[in-house]
Amino acid sequence: MIKLIINFITIIVLLCAISTIVSGTAATGSYTATFNPTQNWGVWEGFGTSLAWWAQTYGNNTVLADIMFTTQNVTYFDGTTVLPGLGLNIVRYNAGASTWVESFGRKMVQSPEIKRSRQVEGYWLNWASEDPQSDSWNWAADPLQRNMMAMARDRGVQYFELFSNSPIWWMTYNLNPSGADLPAMNNLETWNYQNHTVYMATIAQYAAENWNISFTSIDPFNEPSGDFWIAFGSQEGCHFDVEAQKDVIPYMRKEIDSRRLTAMLAASDENNYRRALDTWNSFDSSIKQAVDKVNVHGYELTKGPRSELYEAVNSQGKVLWNSEYGEGDITGLSLATNLLLDLAQLHPTAWVYWQVLDISGWGMIEADENANPPSIGAVATKYYVLAQFSRHIRHGMTIIQSSDGNSVAAFDSVNNKLVIVSANIASSAQTITFNLSKFTTVNGGYGGIVPRWATETNGNGDLYSYHEDTYIQDKMFSVTFNSQTVQTFEIEGVYL
Ligand SMILES: *[C@@H]1O[C@H](CO)[C@@H](O)[C@H](O)[C@H]1NC(C)=O
Ligand SMILES: *[C@@H]1O[C@H](CO)[C@@H](O)[C@H](O)[C@H]1NC(C)=O
Ligand SMILES: *[C@@H]1O[C@H](CO)[C@@H](O)[C@H](O)[C@H]1NC(C)=O
Ligand SMILES: *[C@@H]1O[C@H](CO)[C@@H](O)[C@H](O)[C@H]1NC(C)=O
Ligand SMILES: *[C@@H]1O[C@H](CO)[C@@H](O)[C@H](O)[C@H]1NC(C)=O
Repeated sequence: MIKLIINFITIIVLLCAISTIVSGTAATGSYTATFNPTQNWGVWEGFGTSLAWWAQTYGNNTVLADIMFTTQNVTYFDGTTVLPGLGLNIVRYNAGASTWVESFGRKMVQSPEIKRSRQVEGYWLNWASEDPQSDSWNWAADPLQRNMMAMARDRGVQYFELFSNSPIWWMTYNLNPSGADLPAMNNLETWNYQNHTVYMATIAQYAAENWNISFTSIDPFNEPSGDFWIAFGSQEGCHFDVEAQKDVIPYMRKEIDSRRLTAMLAASDENNYRRALDTWNSFDSSIKQAVDKVNVHGYELTKGPRSELYEAVNSQGKVLWNSEYGEGDITGLSLATNLLLDLAQLHPTAWVYWQVLDISGWGMIEADENANPPSIGAVATKYYVLAQFSRHIRHGMTIIQSSDGNSVAAFDSVNNKLVIVSANIASSAQTITFNLSKFTTVNGGYGGIVPRWATETNGNGDLYSYHEDTYIQDKMFSVTFNSQTVQTFEIEGVYL
């Protein structure tokens, strides 16, 4: 994501979004949500986070690995708070674009604005050799991000995506991995198109052979159509116009196939739904065929053609992920709003947050990588909001058609359990009735109980609090939601 620029826009967009929500788009008063198990949106793959910056700073921290990648109760750094682990099962590993050694007499040009925490160390030192065993490669680079990836694997993470913010600096025209000298200019030298994909595929092959990591997908781009990647930018980034993407994708396909990697080819990780739709529509059938999975970022927040993108991608039989989402609303209300919009209209099979540790309300945990030493601060309310989803909607469940855009239902056919996550984003209380009459049998737990968890995003009380006070009656149950509250329900004994 393009962070500093977007921060301002985000704040304005969020303020607008919140005021719209409060002034009317949310359902008010009581209503009934129904779920139709004969229609579904596919099998859920999981929730995740990109590694990159936070992991290359905090990558040795086992407590953070437990918090992010398990569903255990984890004692926080304050010694008293017990956090419900988020149980993320997807990580995105960032192939670095920076090295600080000369390559044939040339040195990396660094943006005056870039922070060390956002420079990720790359593995390929120069073009003298493509052989990963040669001294053109430094496999000791980036130890901390790699260590966090290994800890994620050891805690059961199932999906590993390899992505690139920028090709390695010496493949770019201006030797600067933050971007070209002018925005909207391609920065990867045309004669390095294949070399960039060789870099990505070589990392995946080396990881399989040496790190016990099987990358499940590889994406050679990050927000490639964005015109915000620039030589004086504050992070690694690279513009690829659609024509350049069309040239790079076949090389990426070839490198994956010739190495017999099992990784899917993911593209293009555009910044928003509109961009992703335009880019996808501009690909001819051979390019579409080369892509296995379409990744989109959620930076349009409440806006954008989610349904159209789903139709365009799903009609070609491709997997669709929201592979990056983030904003600075520390309450989690925006996260719940936009995630529910994704589930209701975009129908991704996975959803990945950008940086789970970050500053300015962007993180689930407030953390400053540039403090000396790097700091880890308070847990955001947003953390508990994500837990309401990620701990309950689990890999392998089926997302069921819902009549209500603010309620998502996931069915676990192994345990005959239905999970519902629902939000009242309005500023007044609301009673929602959940009508499960389209299932043949709905027992609930002992005595018909429906355990529930609640988080009040406005900080008025519940933070993933557990309650046993709700019961199934005639395949229905009603629950009062306080204002701006997310609740999760687990209904046992449900049969299709
Ligand atoms: C991280 O841990 C590894 C071993 O687990 C150790 O070799 C390395 O020095 C540690 N790095 C930092 C920055 O603490
Ligand atoms: C975590 O703590 C809660 C509340 O004390 C408890 O109900 C739950 O069983 C614990 N979970 C695990 C995995 O230990
Ligand atoms: C790789 O990079 C080198 C040096 O820039 C260049 O000479 C070569 O043509 C590139 N190879 C391919 C296959 O793009
Ligand atoms: C490799 O990773 C898998 C999980 O992906 C794990 O089960 C296995 O024990 C690991 N092997 C080694 C040698 O670490
Ligand atoms: C529940 O749903 C069923 C079928 O979908 C419908 O016939 C019934 O009227 C609904 N009940 C309520 C109270 O909405």
